[in-house]
Amino acid sequence: EQMSLSIEINGQQYNLKVEPRLTLLDLLRERLKLTGTKKGCDQGQCGACTVHVDGVRTNSCLSLAVMNDGAKVTTIEGLANGHELHPMQEAFIKHDGFQCGYCTPGQIMSAVACIHEGHANSETEIREFMSGNICRCGAYANIVNAIREVKA
Ligand code: FES
Repeated sequence: EQMSLSIEINGQQYNLKVEPRLTLLDLLRERLKLTGTKKGCDQGQCGACTVHVDGVRTNSCLSLAVMNDGAKVTTIEGLANGHELHPMQEAFIKHDGFQCGYCTPGQIMSAVACIHEGHANSETEIREFMSGNICRCGAYANIVNAIREVKA
């Protein structure tokens, strides 16, 4: 049986009927075609699916869509301001914070949250906060540099 879901995503309001077991990640990717948010492990272990829910970093693969009734969600598609990239996106480009790019949307959403949630005061703090975002290419040092620049 379908359930009602009222949710704001990147400033747009949606009133939907969804299966109770649909994850927020599948809602974004499959239903709304917001494919910037990636599915890596689908088990809360890689961070590729990271979005902001009411401003807080969230693994969207672990969150049922219906649990987000009334919430405001931001995905990587909602981060830029029109044609102007978010400062964190600029910093990732400048510092080569990615290679293959698959983990990058999640990395950037976590990186923005790292600063907003107050965990960017030292390299150790940044690495700890970012430890749930796995990068198989090993761009970690460059990601930390990008965050430190935006924080500064
Ligand atoms: Fe959600 Fe890996 S896809 S943490």
